[in-house]
Amino acid sequence: MAAQSNELESQLDAIRQEATHTIAQTTTLDQLEQLRVKYLGKKGPIPQVLGGMGKLDPAERPRIGARANEVKEAIQIEIDQKKAALQTAAIAAQLESETIDVTMPGVGRPQGRLHPLNSTTDQVLDIFVGLGYMVAEGPEMETDYYNFEALNFLPDHPARDMQDTLYLPDGNLLRTHTSPVQIRYMEANDPPIRVAVPGRTYRRDTVDATHSAVFHQIEILAIDEGLTFTDLKGTIKVFLQELFGEVEIRFRPSFFPFTEPSAEVDVKWKGRWLEILGCGMVDPNVLKAVGYDPEVYTGFAAGFGVERLAMVLHQIDDIRRLYSSDLRFLKQF
Ligand code: DAH
Repeated sequence: MAAQSNELESQLDAIRQEATHTIAQTTTLDQLEQLRVKYLGKKGPIPQVLGGMGKLDPAERPRIGARANEVKEAIQIEIDQKKAALQTAAIAAQLESETIDVTMPGVGRPQGRLHPLNSTTDQVLDIFVGLGYMVAEGPEMETDYYNFEALNFLPDHPARDMQDTLYLPDGNLLRTHTSPVQIRYMEANDPPIRVAVPGRTYRRDTVDATHSAVFHQIEILAIDEGLTFTDLKGTIKVFLQELFGEVEIRFRPSFFPFTEPSAEVDVKWKGRWLEILGCGMVDPNVLKAVGYDPEVYTGFAAGFGVERLAMVLHQIDDIRRLYSSDLRFLKQF
């Protein structure tokens, strides 16, 4: 009988040894779980050994039962320790793989920048928005009515000539200035009006250092009760000083069909007078064309070329550089 109980004992020891060995070699939590089921589960080797106890002397049974429990507990402890070790290693590996090496060289991303025409437009619009103006836009293809007639151009005005204006086969035209948006905006809105209008404009000009067939303008329009030439002067002065800093400016009498009186404005820039914009009090005929009563409302308007402003502000010598897409030029801004 004693021989049999010794045999069961050594079977239990063998199970324990084998378990210790395989647990030690386990590298994943999944494998470990499989081992737990294998050694400690109901169908494992220990219940099998205990099944053989029936043949034992009853006095021997408690000793073998206690021994089996020892082995189970020992295996359970080894599994728990291994589990903790594998979990710690997994966290360490994750931390290792997620650390940022701050000494690694960065990935360079080429930085784009605004074209000088866009940044100049933004600068001008910012100033007028600061003065309470809205920003509006209009179509580049226009009718004779909006580009000329409603703006008080007489039928035989030279600007209407094929020499100056790009007409389309259908009788429409490419707008020669942003002033037609004055008419469109007034038709769609009631006074008081404060609006700034950036846009592309077209003329039948031969391209040279200061002329381009496609160029950009910004138009401003203010309509209200009681606006006078003083308001126009003050607005233009504030605008030019915001843009150029403290500069001398002068108003020269001029003529535009849609303003009366009209003026051109020069700034003293690097010792020279530079013509910067045209402006004037909105002609009563223009107000009548949009159904405003000129006895109640007055207003002023101004228009300037964005290329001109950009060239002056950035000392650009040739308008064609603005359209050349030459990165060596554009990277300077
Ligand atoms: N539309 C004119 C032009 O191209 C510029 C201009 C002059 C606009 C006087 C105005 C203005 O609003 O009042 O050339």
